[in-house]
Amino acid sequence: MSIKHYLQFKDFSREEYDHLFQRSVFIKQQFKTYQPYQPLKDRTLAMVFEKNSTRTRVSFEAGMYQMGGIAINLTTGDTQLGRGEPIDDVARVISRMVDVVMIRTFDHQIIERFAEYSRVPVINGLTDEHHPCQIMADVFTFIEHRGPIDGRVVAWIGDGNNVARSWLQAAKGFGFKLHVSTPPGFELQVGDDGGDHLKIFADPMEAARGAHLVTTDVWTSMGWEDETEDRKQKFADWQVDAEMMQVAASNALFMHCLPAHRGEEVTAEVIDGAQSVVWDEAENRLHTQKALLEYLLLGKV
Ligand code: CP
Ligand code: NVA
Repeated sequence: MSIKHYLQFKDFSREEYDHLFQRSVFIKQQFKTYQPYQPLKDRTLAMVFEKNSTRTRVSFEAGMYQMGGIAINLTTGDTQLGRGEPIDDVARVISRMVDVVMIRTFDHQIIERFAEYSRVPVINGLTDEHHPCQIMADVFTFIEHRGPIDGRVVAWIGDGNNVARSWLQAAKGFGFKLHVSTPPGFELQVGDDGGDHLKIFADPMEAARGAHLVTTDVWTSMGWEDETEDRKQKFADWQVDAEMMQVAASNALFMHCLPAHRGEEVTAEVIDGAQSVVWDEAENRLHTQKALLEYLLLGKV
């Protein structure tokens, strides 16, 4: 039997996302009304973190417990991974003991290799190239607030990073336009994901003009800390501020995957303002990932 993994946003079809979002609505409703929903009794999730995390750690761990299962947290420092055990061997061993694995790591090839040797589904909790769980929650959050995202315009302002790449795959899958503006030298590497749904802008204000959603991320992602000071100079004009939100559509939303740096990629006025839905976005990581775990372990219920 072939195993389903979730390594990139494009690993699921539109029809699968429609199912996941329908389940997310149900699962969220159960949670909000204190009604237990525990279809994953006796199931175990192993989480492997090679980079720091708050939201991904808490949402997967709490989600697994809430669904009746258990979660084990592993980090590079406290496992043999930190002492150089090959990823293939780690995958073979862990996947004989648990039902599903979530990994946050560096190069995307590491998670692909893990999945190749795993007997159980593998979920990408962020790599240098992709962050699909984040964009699954973000698209769900947009739909909750504004209805279908199909045909809308999403503006990505800042680094052409992992989160941006998952947005690009979502634009293709959901049929919306992604306007991207990055400083020179930090462009989004589009590869096969490019097409009519992507429009590149040199000027970030033009990228945001008329957008239904304006979104950004830190100037320096995990793993690039050495470039922090250099990036602060180069990204200075790629800040989402009130003036930029003013040129977006009148009811535009603001999103940020978090953690955020107020005064760098976004002003406090915007992230703490009326158009920002960042807290809903963070909370929806929990509900959508519970739907994801349910789907990978139980199929369409
Ligand atoms: N947005 C996100 O993935 O947050 P963490 O790094 O805290 O998990
Ligand atoms: N682009 C950021 C996202 C953090 C959730 C990073 O990779 O560090």
